[in-house]
Amino acid sequence: MSMTLRRLTRAATAGLVAAAALTAAAHSAEAADTLGSAAAGQGRYFGTAVAANHLGEADYTATLDREFSSVTPENEMKWDATEPSRGTFTFGSADRIVDHAQSQGMDVRGHTLVWHSQLPSWVGSLGASDLRTAMNAHINGLMGHYKGEIHSWDVVNEAFQDGGSGARRSSPFQDKLGNGFIEEAFRTARAADPAAKLCYNDYNTDGVNAKSNAVYDMVEDFKSRGVPIDCVGFQSHFNSNSPVPSDYRQNLQRFADLGVDVQITELDIEGSGSAQAADYTKVVEACLAVSRCTGMTVWGVTDKYSWRSGGTPLLFDGNYQEKPAHDAVLSALGGSGDPGDPGDPGDGTLSCTATYTRTADWSSGYNGQVTITAGDEPISSWTTTVTLPAQQSVSSLWNGTPTRSGNVMTVRPSWNGTLAAGASTSFGFTVAKNGSDAAPAVGTCTAS
Ligand code: G3I
Repeated sequence: MSMTLRRLTRAATAGLVAAAALTAAAHSAEAADTLGSAAAGQGRYFGTAVAANHLGEADYTATLDREFSSVTPENEMKWDATEPSRGTFTFGSADRIVDHAQSQGMDVRGHTLVWHSQLPSWVGSLGASDLRTAMNAHINGLMGHYKGEIHSWDVVNEAFQDGGSGARRSSPFQDKLGNGFIEEAFRTARAADPAAKLCYNDYNTDGVNAKSNAVYDMVEDFKSRGVPIDCVGFQSHFNSNSPVPSDYRQNLQRFADLGVDVQITELDIEGSGSAQAADYTKVVEACLAVSRCTGMTVWGVTDKYSWRSGGTPLLFDGNYQEKPAHDAVLSALGGSGDPGDPGDPGDGTLSCTATYTRTADWSSGYNGQVTITAGDEPISSWTTTVTLPAQQSVSSLWNGTPTRSGNVMTVRPSWNGTLAAGASTSFGFTVAKNGSDAAPAVGTCTAS
């Protein structure tokens, strides 16, 4: 979608955003036992990294939509994905994630604008002056496209070296532009989207050590000179070689005391069972103890798609079952996963989720599909709504029975109302765009 069209789309779909907000409100009212709603009760978001190519998987999307209140595109906003050749921006995969998040009332973290990795080779071959121009154009290109849609951007990622020196990492930016590239990136970012929180993001900075000291000094310097910076991201990739540091809370607090928010941005902890659960508890408790720790993001929905899948570091296993670590996080957030809670197996509560994907797309239209998944009890019928942007119209709908009122369709089953616990069905529809490429909003699913 073009930059202009994205902004127009936002303006034209205020109703959709309102519908998404209603969906989110319904989520939190009915589900005090999800990570996102429990974190909201603490004034925090609870997010996950998302990969666009998994959004068509019903269990993946059902878990995402039920549990999380913020998403970070795992790879889709990186330089190689968004500007593979100079001046040619490609936003398709990132747009799919942002559209999905908005349809569910979730926030989006932007990751990442200036990073030495996943950097197309053309960037590394530029001379200093051209590189500076290209860096600023890249920031403007991404932030302009998503202006007003991203709550926090990782403006610069991983600019400091590992090891004890606290030195800057070698990269085309560091090597050709010198230390000043970081503040230049932040100044450009502030002008590009003044509403977005601007973060510096790094790993192995989670405890007090030489690397985090170097980042601390930079943030202190930025604050003293008025360089725009709002937050520091602590990636928090932990395993036995890099355990949760004992001074994690203290480290978050000292950054917060500089006058920036802190966010846990890529949390995962290798392990299993109660030991893994205990480590997750430490992280959540540390964030909750620091008032400027505004939210946490785990680096993926399910172990099977983790970048460290062999270490099973996430909250849901490969079958999307909640792990002890999930229950520990929920409990630390003040939520309740006790048997008998609404949504738990065996409590008799009939429930379902509705998840939207675009399955085909052409210039004048698209096909949408809504997957209905029963909750922990078998159901005999379901109802959901699909709210279209005002310009769009539906020309046909299959495997469901629609009732239309203005641009809202209420859809009930045709032959496919009966679903076993956890089972899915879907209905599809063809839409004429009539000039609007925006996604429809899918309402709460009601089961009987
Ligand atoms: O999409 C291609 C696919 O077409 C190809 O067949 C396949 C073959 O290798 O590669 C696929 O791309 C991979 C991509 O993930 C998508 O799965 C890349 O090889 C792989 O390198 C890439 O890894 C990502 C990694 O960043 C790259 O640095 C991980 O998914 C992503 O989780 C990881 O995330 C980083 C954060 O951005 C920054 N902090 C550390 C964190 C973990 O490394």
